[in-house]
Amino acid sequence: MKILVTGGAGFIGSNFIHYMFEKYSNYQIVNLDKLTYAGNLENLKDVEENPNYKFVRGDIADPELVNNLIEEEKPDAIVNFAAESHVDRSILEPDAFINTNVVGTHNLLKAAFGNGKIRFHHVSTDEVFGSLGPNDPAFNESTPYDPHSPYSASKAASDHLVRAYFHTFNLPVTISNCSNNYGPYMFPEKLFPLFITNLIEGKKVPLYGDGRNVRDWLHVRDHCRAIALIIHKGKIGETYCVGGACEKTNKEITYKILELMGKGEEMIEKVADRLGHDRRYAIDFRKIKIELGWEPETIFEDGLKNMIEWYKNNEIWWRKIKSGEYQEYYEKNYARR
Ligand code: NAD
Ligand code: DAU
Repeated sequence: MKILVTGGAGFIGSNFIHYMFEKYSNYQIVNLDKLTYAGNLENLKDVEENPNYKFVRGDIADPELVNNLIEEEKPDAIVNFAAESHVDRSILEPDAFINTNVVGTHNLLKAAFGNGKIRFHHVSTDEVFGSLGPNDPAFNESTPYDPHSPYSASKAASDHLVRAYFHTFNLPVTISNCSNNYGPYMFPEKLFPLFITNLIEGKKVPLYGDGRNVRDWLHVRDHCRAIALIIHKGKIGETYCVGGACEKTNKEITYKILELMGKGEEMIEKVADRLGHDRRYAIDFRKIKIELGWEPETIFEDGLKNMIEWYKNNEIWWRKIKSGEYQEYYEKNYARR
């Protein structure tokens, strides 16, 4: 199988490429990534010499580039990770979110359709469903869409487009809506890696608002395993909700990280809340469990301990990101297509 992965230089995309080469070493993977601030080829250092791997620097929002690449490579499947993914950035500068998440996804759909109806899997988020009250049942595949941030609204729009291409043009699509991921190669602007790296640097950790917002945490490897299963065995036209059965408040996460890193609560800095901050996300993953036999495998405390160890052992990786050095290198060495 030849797979075109978009956004493969980011957090989940790079974990997915590692996972796929581990499980399916004979597959070919073409990675199309713009290398925005979130894309980092160091995440893929150990696969760059693999003859089954190819990297192309390019923007999914460029329709000609996307169509030419798909025409040339003739992939059997496209897995779309490419996105602007950080909620706080979408509040400050929403335009890029519309361009990449909506226009970019649409370009990929058009090219997938125009080049022989290529199998298309779209990686989406639980944030499209909005926010839950403390006693509401978890989101499932029938929960109505109610996105609240420019990020989640742009992802919701892309999900609708993917479904529209299935219903209108018979494009063979699937969608996964996953809860919060954590694990290696996670960009240090998000809760887990920001807090872990700040504590290594002796800095405080900024906890938003009252710290009682709830997220449902899933180890990134479990997410990658779910996507691989859906590509191979998922039912065309269907959506699968993927989650960790691991609801925790941000306060609980913060105290756990402090404990595992031997730090005290004086390292917490209470800061202003995120605008429009969703209170609670939770996923009911019964459908993928029953139909495809998937369920999370990583125990949260083990996954978190491993993640902390990974950040301790890969200081050069995240220090280059925090200093901005990694981007200067790409600007010099990787021409855009
Ligand atoms: P990320 O921000 O770490 O990586 C995004 C990648 O996409 C980067 O490599 C970036 O360079 C690339 N990219 C951005 N714009 C592009 C463009 N116009 N053209 C080509 N490449 C572009 O994101 P992530 O956390 O790895 O998330 C990947 C996908 O999974 C996203 O679609 C996100 O919505 C979804 N998702 C993320 C989570 C999570 O917890 N991180 C949970 C559920 C779903
Ligand atoms: O639910 C899936 C989503 O999870 C993905 O679709 C997004 O791409 C991904 O970024 C993530 O979104 P969140 O907004 O939930 O993740 P983030 O790490 O930014 O924040 C997690 C929680 O921690 C959230 O309630 C806000 C809070 N937070 C975050 C940061 C960065 C803080 O309290 N302090 C912080 O500094």
